[in-house]
This record gives sequence, structure tokens and C-alpha cells, in this order.
Amino acid sequence: MEAIDGLENDWSQIVDEEGNQIGTVGHHFKLSRAFNKEEMDHIKRDGTCIACHKEIPKASLAVSLLHHVAEYSGQLPKTTNQHFGLVNKIVLTSAWGQVLLALGGMLVGALVVGGFGYRKWKPKSQP
Ligand code: HEC
Repeated sequence: MEAIDGLENDWSQIVDEEGNQIGTVGHHFKLSRAFNKEEMDHIKRDGTCIACHKEIPKASLAVSLLHHVAEYSGQLPKTTNQHFGLVNKIVLTSAWGQVLLALGGMLVGALVVGGFGYRKWKPKSQP
């Protein structure tokens, strides 16, 4: 097909199969257009659920244990809100876990280096 001069945006899909408009950046702006493929991929993020649910409920020992505890104590998420709370807790636990682990590693490193340094520097005790 012949290229159309000045048509810079990706117009490969403007509406979906049902005829609904795919998306727009807003009609107030001069550069308004439909989302292109890269942007759609960012928005959709296929696999978001699978990232967690390939392990949930049984694939990993720790996850399976927590699942059983949740199951028998009636804490499995039943509403979107409860699920939201869980996902939120997971991201915070993970982030703090990694930060604390890094800080702990640095502390151990400092103690080891400091300990060796002190041994070398320690004045010899007089006989
Ligand atoms: C950050 C991790 C995470 C992500 C992402 C996630 N979930 Fe979950 N989801 C969980 C956890 C944890 C539970 C509680 C599971 C358990 O103990 O069995 C859960 C439970 C559920 C349950 C209830 C299961 C049951 O046994 O009653 C459903 C349904 C569910 N998720 C759907 C989804 C969907 C749909 C998505 C994507 C839009 C999604 N989840 C994304 C972590 C996640």
C-alpha cells in the first residue's frame, strides 16, 4: 500500500472487533491519536495474573503452606477489595524484605571487614 504523507501515528487498529474505540490520548490535543501497539502492550500486560498464580495455590512449598492456613482460617480473598489488599501487602513485604536483606548484607560485610581490621591493628599485649 502507498504510504500516506504526514500520517505518522499507528492507525492499524482504531476500534476493536465490536466497534468500540480502542483508546485516545484526548481530543483536546493536536497530537491526539489511538494508542499504538507498544502502548497497548504496556496497558494490557498479559500474564499479570499468571505471574503470581502459577505458584498459587500449590506450586511452591511456602505458598502452599500459606494457602492452607488461609483456607482453614477462612481468609481466602472473596472480593476484589480483599484481593487488592493481598496484592498490596505482597508488594510491600517483598520490597521491604529486599531492602532489609541488602542492609543486613552490608552490616555483616562491615562487621567482617571491621573485625579483621581490628585484629591487625590491636596492640600486642606485653608479656
Ligand atoms: C501479587 C500476586 C498476585 C497477583 C498479581 C494476582 N493475584 Fe490473585 N491471589 C493472590 C493471592 C496471594 C491469593 C490468595 C491465594 C490463596 O491463598 O490461595 C489470590 C487469590 C485469588 C483468587 C481467589 C482464589 C480462591 O481460592 O478463592 C482469585 C479468583 C484470584 N486471585 C484472581 C486473580 C486475577 C484474575 C488476577 C489478575 C487480574 C490475580 N489474581 C492477580 C495473589 C495475586
